[in-house]
Amino acid sequence: MTSIKINRRNWLKTSALTAGGLMASPYLGFSKNPSLALELDAEGNAIYSPFFKEYLPESSREFPILEARLNANENPYGPSPMALEALKKSASGGNRYAWKELFQLMDKIADFEGVTPKNIMMGPGSSDLLEKTAMVLFMNGGNVVSADPAYMSLIRVAEAAGGTWKPVPLNEDWSHDLEAMEKAIDSETKLVYICNPNNPTGTITDAKKLLDFCSRVSEKVPVFVDEAYLWFLEDGAKQSMVSLINEGKDIIVARTFSKIHGMAGLRVGYAVAQEATLDKLQKITRAGMGISYPSVYAAMAAMDDNEFLDKSRTLNAEARDYVFKSLQEMDFEPVASHTSFMIFPIEMEGKGFLQKMTEQKVGVRAFQFMDKNWCRVSMGTMEEMKLFTAALRKVFV
Ligand SMILES: Cc1ncc(COP(=O)(O)O)c(C=O)c1O
Repeated sequence: MTSIKINRRNWLKTSALTAGGLMASPYLGFSKNPSLALELDAEGNAIYSPFFKEYLPESSREFPILEARLNANENPYGPSPMALEALKKSASGGNRYAWKELFQLMDKIADFEGVTPKNIMMGPGSSDLLEKTAMVLFMNGGNVVSADPAYMSLIRVAEAAGGTWKPVPLNEDWSHDLEAMEKAIDSETKLVYICNPNNPTGTITDAKKLLDFCSRVSEKVPVFVDEAYLWFLEDGAKQSMVSLINEGKDIIVARTFSKIHGMAGLRVGYAVAQEATLDKLQKITRAGMGISYPSVYAAMAAMDDNEFLDKSRTLNAEARDYVFKSLQEMDFEPVASHTSFMIFPIEMEGKGFLQKMTEQKVGVRAFQFMDKNWCRVSMGTMEEMKLFTAALRKVFV
């Protein structure tokens, strides 16, 4: 893979230094130690590790007018017709806490996942569950082992709570380096975090290898598997790690209604795990409390709207094919994606690139890792993707 030719030894060496690496995000306002000011680089960008740096817009409160919003992996087609109908019908119940209704949703999810309702923990989006898990597990220190680059939500909170991050570079084929991750586990490790398919790379790790890893490693330390994008795969159910819960393994699988269900703004997510693990998390947090009454109904309806889910998957794949081919035609080297977003290296500094794309009214994300600048573009409608490719042509004239 030409796009990631790097000196692997140096890469690993750098990565070993990142356990206590800088971390900051103006969005979240966390630093390594929550009582200290944020640590940003000289240009004010968030640095997650020596590898992984994210370029941020000038101010997170300035939302430019965009004709193509391709910066947050939202689903342009949602919410589904059935979810919208359920929302309308349940809106008048918005004066009530959704206690009984939340249990109904949990029963439905448990049935779908083939576990018991006691294995389900609900949250207003899976971010909330990632963060609450981090808060509870890392309040007395410890380290989290994950890939680098990875989705940073759990890791940032683990560090803010007092933990450290042990980043392990992805393999050159973009899969998780499971062997190195297992070796990175030490007596201080409280959790292994795996995002599969991974964000921001959009790539996958072989399900059989991952199942074997999770099964073995969870005997020593819990493994958190973030499956936010799994349902974009044709055989998502087969690639899930949920089956390990019924084998008694200490696995926490997180899922969200924000992606394939198109409900990012309605905020519903859940975790599937051992009852004892969830008890530990819920002893000091109340995750389900954050979900609104109408959102509970919308989620129940969305689960039944198979027509919409199929449509989302198909249209997402069509957009992905179009973007992949268009990028190649423009001599970029996109990384084959299994998700609703795609990355490719750009020969332009990230902040300037974001500025130029915004001037074209197209929102994307920019990162720096493995000695390169990268653009991450979310899959929108075909019309939006055409605006994206047109904007890119103008920016790189
Ligand atoms: C890998 C991954 N996990 C979790 C989330 C959180 O999504 P939400 O809080 O909307 O469920 C996201 C959102 O982009 C994500 O990319």
